[in-house]
Amino acid sequence: MAPTDNQNPTARGQAGHPRNPDWWRQAAVYQIYPRSFADGDGDGIGDFKGVLTKIDYLAALGVDAVWFSPFYPSALVDGGYDVDDYRDIDPLIGTLEEFDQIISQLHSHGIKVIIDIVANHSSDRHRWFHDALAAGAGSAERARYLFRDGLGQDGEEPPNDWQSLFGGPAWTRVTEPDGTPGQWYLHLFTTQQPDWNWANPEVRQDFLTTLRFWGDRGVDGFRVDVAMCLAKDLSEPYPTWADLASGMALVGAGTSPYADGQHPLFDRDELSEIYAQWRDVFDAYSPPLFAVAEAWVAPHRRARYASPKSLGQAFNFDLLTAPWDAAAFREIIGANVDLATQAGSTSTWVLSNHDVVRHASRYAQSGTTGLNYGAGAAPLSVDATARDRGLARAQAATALMLALPGSSYIYQGEELGLPEVSGILADQAQDPWARIENGVEVAGRDGCRVPLPWTQTGPYFGFSANASWLPQPDWFGAYSAAVESADASSTLSFYRAALALRREFQTDEQIEWLELGPEAVAFRRRNGWTCVTNFGTEPLALPAGRIVLRTDGAADRPTIPAATTAWIVP
Ligand code: GLC
Repeated sequence: MAPTDNQNPTARGQAGHPRNPDWWRQAAVYQIYPRSFADGDGDGIGDFKGVLTKIDYLAALGVDAVWFSPFYPSALVDGGYDVDDYRDIDPLIGTLEEFDQIISQLHSHGIKVIIDIVANHSSDRHRWFHDALAAGAGSAERARYLFRDGLGQDGEEPPNDWQSLFGGPAWTRVTEPDGTPGQWYLHLFTTQQPDWNWANPEVRQDFLTTLRFWGDRGVDGFRVDVAMCLAKDLSEPYPTWADLASGMALVGAGTSPYADGQHPLFDRDELSEIYAQWRDVFDAYSPPLFAVAEAWVAPHRRARYASPKSLGQAFNFDLLTAPWDAAAFREIIGANVDLATQAGSTSTWVLSNHDVVRHASRYAQSGTTGLNYGAGAAPLSVDATARDRGLARAQAATALMLALPGSSYIYQGEELGLPEVSGILADQAQDPWARIENGVEVAGRDGCRVPLPWTQTGPYFGFSANASWLPQPDWFGAYSAAVESADASSTLSFYRAALALRREFQTDEQIEWLELGPEAVAFRRRNGWTCVTNFGTEPLALPAGRIVLRTDGAADRPTIPAATTAWIVP
């Protein structure tokens, strides 16, 4: 199939028009983590058959696009971010034909399809990694990955002291074809995720083929996993890990001893060349394929990923790591709207995803960030005050996010107000980040990946007929889609109402700030659509106008209480 226009019969709203090349600029994007969404064949792992039963749910929710986390063949060492084959589907998840059906059914509702591209590393089960092991040191096959000789008399020491981002050494030694211990390969994540050598033109070409493969199947765009990691400088002498770690742009902390773009492992300048090649592929489609970078980089570097010559949009995770605080929100919003405009893109807003503690739980405990996994482990099911505080703030933050110019990314289950699931420790944990540190069990990311509750009762709360790959807690049924669909005051009803209103009022990408005091975040869009959030403890007076949404569900009153957002139109 040649690159073509997506055959989308439905022209719906600004974002939903099939030919609109700007559909992504202010889209509401729903992230599906396939293994935890819906299980159609009863094996306990979510799959495409399950997704196909939920198309109406997605359409009724009112999102503009769906982003699928990886569904490729995988040993699931890192939840599918360890890819065996970039141009196929894991048999546990489904088939290419089922994926075609998903694309066509979502498109028939005017919903775009975005998929995850994991380009920093493959899995150690990828055909090219097997070839590399078989071919031996110095071969062209090894040059697709980052193999190096070890130190010491017999090469028994790793080439340097670099650490994996999941903990433990970043180098693993292989056994050579003749059975002797041999070279070492670099992996920024788990041992089973060898890093590609992006200096190798063959690797670059192969990824272009992958992008076209999915573009030709009708996919509308890509979410680019750890987009800041692909290019690396492995020239010697190697810096120590202490040097590298102090300059890590990954979580925005630390002062880099390296000039911008010069860190050996992250955010290197030559990434621009790589993404310019991707851009050529994207622009061969009409409308062009879309991409959003997962780039944990300093804000002033984000434009390198977000520019129209590069991937086109980049995540900012600033709200996700911010405390519940009006000044912090105002500063983040202002800075990011400006940065996105300078980059020629639009801003992105994220409160939850598959890597962080769900925001309904994060906001229950003041001062915790999305990356603070331990914090999500508090037993919210038994602490009703904390739970209610978290949910009120979560809805207020969501309404604020949905009123901002740019794209909002919604993680499956947040529309149900799901808290983080606590207590998934050692024996049931699946995430490589779950670990024991100094004798203490540290929760990983499983708590936000527990399979969704669809029904109040019944096996696995409607997720599956027979099993669930992560344990679901007893209290899950109360958060099920069935219960919340029938309740006008539920979180799900709020998301549906907010997404419908957002579509109705969506306008250009400007905001004008309103001064309503230090505890308020208040802004107006050009057409008068006004959003006011109360971060304080006292009631806050609303500006004049017609109130179309209040997250406290209260009747039309002139003030909003603590932890509430209201939308007002002229
Ligand atoms: C990204 C993904 C995360 C994964 C990592 C390695 O950060 O979001 O889930 O573990 O990349 O691929």
